[in-house]
Amino acid sequence: MIKTWRKFSLLLVLMAVTLVIAACGGGSEGGSASEGGGGQVDVGIVLPTKDEPRWVQDEQRFKDALAETDYSTEILFSQGSSAKEKENVDILLNKGIKVLIIAPHDGAAAAAAVESAKQDDVTVIAYDRLITDTEAVDYYVTFDSLAVGAAQAQYLIDNAEGSGVPLYLYAGASSDNNAFLFFQGAWSVLQPKIADGTFKIANSSEAEALKDTAELSRDQLSKVLGQVTTNWDPNEAKNKAQTHLTGVGADMKGDVAVLAPNDGTARAIADVFASDGEVTNYVITGQDAEKASVQYIIDKKQSMTVFKDVRTLVKDAMDMAVTVLEGNEPETTGSYDNGAVEVKAKQTDVITVDEENVKAELVDSGYYEAGEFTGLK
Ligand code: GAL
Repeated sequence: MIKTWRKFSLLLVLMAVTLVIAACGGGSEGGSASEGGGGQVDVGIVLPTKDEPRWVQDEQRFKDALAETDYSTEILFSQGSSAKEKENVDILLNKGIKVLIIAPHDGAAAAAAVESAKQDDVTVIAYDRLITDTEAVDYYVTFDSLAVGAAQAQYLIDNAEGSGVPLYLYAGASSDNNAFLFFQGAWSVLQPKIADGTFKIANSSEAEALKDTAELSRDQLSKVLGQVTTNWDPNEAKNKAQTHLTGVGADMKGDVAVLAPNDGTARAIADVFASDGEVTNYVITGQDAEKASVQYIIDKKQSMTVFKDVRTLVKDAMDMAVTVLEGNEPETTGSYDNGAVEVKAKQTDVITVDEENVKAELVDSGYYEAGEFTGLK
């Protein structure tokens, strides 16, 4: 694709000059005054929390990419609070942003924040997580989340031996639309193998009751998630795993399979399974290729992760923002129904990584440096 930001640099300079002239002339576009001497910002970026390495990774990749653009940008974190998120959006609106790139903490609660952005004629790009039940979302840049779940499930199947393998299911937060997609994608692949007895569900009566249902409705997914959610919180994941292992008999131990939704929860759950003397082996999934989980994979403590190349998502989001700032319509590859409207979307593929290809995919590719890990072969 020939859309590079440098290509537009001349245009950007011209636009910057125009902006400076407008500012000198006292013109205050859109009528929203800049508060607190914050200055003009073109693109506002709001990320959910600094507490999870996944989003700190995104911040860093944004910073790397922003070094190449002439537009001014600002990144704010919501620290797992929808109120803080709304405050962040208001701060950025007061700085005159024209485009908002936002990964919501809670997909439904974020509707209020993006609706005020729309009132200011700001273009809203949902980043990684969809904002639901509102028309105030223009675009969505995302990974293929159904494929994430499907890759996790396929890995468990490929590494299961014999039949009657105890299967422990865990999911993300119900406030995150992705958690539904991940589980839905996993279920579509796992369900036939649960129905045929390859796996037996160890920790969810709701999932057990649905074992002959190939496609789960949103309501059915909600019920299962209600039981096996981690809320994306490693501590909650750890506590749940401990409760589950305490609650089952020896028939649900031995060699087991664990569907863990992402790396943070996978490491917490893996530690619990590793410390149970009756668990002889566990195969556990993950997602995000967080550094700590790459090390866990090298150390054989986590079986796999789903690599989502954040560089691509950042580039897609920024390309989209720049295209909008230039008055053009961004390219999209499909759409997502957010409950209120079909949101035009650009989607990126994901890659399954385990000890076999961890070096090739994550180090030789330049994503991480070899020196960040020990025992890498
Ligand atoms: C999801 C995101 C994942 C994971 C999770 C927890 O929405 O797609 O990559 O990090 O949130 O933050």
